[in-house]
Amino acid sequence: MAITAIRGTFFDFVDDPWKHVGSEHEAARFTLDGLLVIDDGIIVAFGDFYDVAPSYPGIDPTVIADRIIMPGFIDGHIHVPQTRVLGAFGQQLLPWLNDTVFPEEARYSDREYAREGTERFFENVLAGGTTTVQAFTTTSPVATEEFFEAASRRNMLVIGGVTGIDQFAPEGTTSTPEQFYADSTAMIEKYHGTGRNLYAITPRFALGATERLLEACQKLKQEHPDLWVNTHISENPAEIAGVLQAHPDCTDYLGVYEKYGLVGPKFSGGHGIWLSDNEFARMSDSGAAVVFCPCSNLFLGSGVFRLGKATDPDRRVRMSFGTDMGGGNRFSMVNVLDEAYKVGMLGNTLLDGSTNRVTQDLAQSERSKLSPYRAFWSVTLGGAEGLYIDDRVGNFEVGKEADFVALDYTAGPPAMPWHQELFFGASGPTTMEEAAHALFSIMMVGDDRNVDETWVSGVRLYKKA
Ligand code: GUN
Ligand code: ZN
Repeated sequence: MAITAIRGTFFDFVDDPWKHVGSEHEAARFTLDGLLVIDDGIIVAFGDFYDVAPSYPGIDPTVIADRIIMPGFIDGHIHVPQTRVLGAFGQQLLPWLNDTVFPEEARYSDREYAREGTERFFENVLAGGTTTVQAFTTTSPVATEEFFEAASRRNMLVIGGVTGIDQFAPEGTTSTPEQFYADSTAMIEKYHGTGRNLYAITPRFALGATERLLEACQKLKQEHPDLWVNTHISENPAEIAGVLQAHPDCTDYLGVYEKYGLVGPKFSGGHGIWLSDNEFARMSDSGAAVVFCPCSNLFLGSGVFRLGKATDPDRRVRMSFGTDMGGGNRFSMVNVLDEAYKVGMLGNTLLDGSTNRVTQDLAQSERSKLSPYRAFWSVTLGGAEGLYIDDRVGNFEVGKEADFVALDYTAGPPAMPWHQELFFGASGPTTMEEAAHALFSIMMVGDDRNVDETWVSGVRLYKKA
């Protein structure tokens, strides 16, 4: 038995704050002096220190003082082989893919190159406090192998798979439907369910897929119904126009994935900026998820995600948040929350009737506002629900896997400590309300410098220098 115990201040969620409009704190749990007991990577006890400690006589916990300990962040949409090209100037999606992304991804067929890039990828992910990613690799099985091997070395819960694309990309970044099917089958066999690895059938996007490639995806899903499906959806206007032109029998983008039986639980589509009300409703009904990637949506000029629509209680859509690095220019989910808040505030203004009385929707306007409760739920328990992994991670419930991050609420830019003095004293936040203030400050004033430690399966893998 390898028992580890952590003593400190904990903040996690037991419910969705969007279900508690006006009393969002009811969805959260704040444990000022808590004890988390971990046996072999699994949480075996959690609660107030003085309630839990007597059951573990002689235990010598690691004390993480002056921090807020949260479940590890979940990045629902990120690209491993774009690690080196994040932050490329001035283009929208399609030319950006052609000029910047595809040439770099082609290099990941080389094992040495892929290994170095993948190692750097995981170092950056962990430094941002992220403990789980759903990731794109490339068409090359080499890149997928390196991804799962690097995750396994760290014992991280990850979702990924070989990328399927057979048109509109240069040679070296595409494969044939037959090759994609064969490579996917081999990778599923080798990695799905080994350690903490989970496999996603990964058609890159509808624009890059011929009907035969989508049929190969459908066959894989039929043969392995427990697999995830990870893709892009309704991101950029030029992309969407191309998809609708190629599929005149489909009324919208989602319809293409529906046609091939891919939409349902464990399906997630990155971006979903231009989804119609009807598409949102169908995603809600089927249990599919959308991944909100605000850094990327702004960086590539793709558009304003309708946060208040996705969270409509009548047709609630499962939702994760993602960096979409390198379309997103940051690795850290803290930065994602910063941009998500601003996108939400734009939605808030656009829907409050001040710009257009006809489109006024005050409830949707309110739901667009990203409070710290909504924000941090979205990158922990909510993100896990979006990916159907909330039975394993997302909060500190007994039986879940022990992935967590220790946030330093006085780190970040030099303004931070003085800023925080407005909200709580020198001993740090002592109530849930004060802790929520600290978390909101981290997402809006701070950055990944506020991530002090990242733990995976009960082992510390990152400590800020
Ligand atoms: N659509 C197809 N491929 C990509 C990609 O790599 N990044 C983004 N943001 N959108 C895509
Ligand atoms: Zn993406």
